[in-house]
Amino acid sequence: MSTILRTKDLTKKYGSKVVVDNLNIEIEEGEVFGLLGPNGAGKSTTMNMICDIVRPTLGSVEFYGKDFKKNRKELLSKLGYIPQDLAIHGRLKAWENVELFTSLYGIKGAELKKRIDESLEYVGLTEKKNDYAKTFSGGMKRRLNIACALGHHPSLLIFDEPTVGIDAQSRNFIMEKIKESNRNGATVIYTSHYMEEVEAICTRIAIMDNGKIIAIGTVEELKKMVVEDTSKITLEEVFLTLTGKKLRDY
Ligand SMILES: Nc1ncnc2c1ncn2[C@@H]1O[C@H](COP(=O)(O)OP(=O)(O)OP(=O)(O)O)[C@@H](O)[C@H]1O
Ligand SMILES: [Mg+2]
Repeated sequence: MSTILRTKDLTKKYGSKVVVDNLNIEIEEGEVFGLLGPNGAGKSTTMNMICDIVRPTLGSVEFYGKDFKKNRKELLSKLGYIPQDLAIHGRLKAWENVELFTSLYGIKGAELKKRIDESLEYVGLTEKKNDYAKTFSGGMKRRLNIACALGHHPSLLIFDEPTVGIDAQSRNFIMEKIKESNRNGATVIYTSHYMEEVEAICTRIAIMDNGKIIAIGTVEELKKMVVEDTSKITLEEVFLTLTGKKLRDY
């Protein structure tokens, strides 16, 4: 296995407030890497810096062993980012939304048409291809948001809370699709504050709080940091012990 992504001392400050604090993480090819943390922990800011949407105050990102800033165009084409805030356009039809994003990567003509159909089919929206995105339910919008990030066939997929505010059926559908993408060869970074989702799909988890990674490992390794007998503790309790906080209010 080789390292696909490495952050070096990645830091973001807004004014005097440090929101991401000296982050050093390495993600291996083929992983489903979970970034778990409460509201305001710095998860989205970290993802945004990895995708070069937010400029780091300090530090850098290396992707396939290359500096992201110096090889931006090449590296962006290998990255699929599914943002927390929906990035679809209500006044465009489903297929036009996918076209808009996929064509940014220089894909044209018959190949573009094929990629649009393939992406919509992947998220189960073929029947809704010609419908305007503004008429979609929350779950359908989330699925379209994912389709928009797939058309250029990225090898690293970054999902920032893709299941927020949607029904259980759509949530399960999205979780299955993430697993399927991983089986098909994509490396995945997944941020959430749903413990059970992270536990179900992630090969390794980083717990983030106040801009810092406070623990990193497999579910079993994280539990071992707190107790000897791991059958006696849930990931939720590990989080509470390590941070003194509840992950979310139920
Ligand atoms: N553009 C900005 N200007 C000022 N502060 C910001 C900005 N963007 C984010 N922050 C602050 O940075 C901190 C981390 O925010 P971020 O969105 O990364 O957290 P998060 O872990 O993704 O939270 P959530 O689970 O709510 O999505 C928060 O305190 C937030 O208010
Ligand atoms: Mg966020």
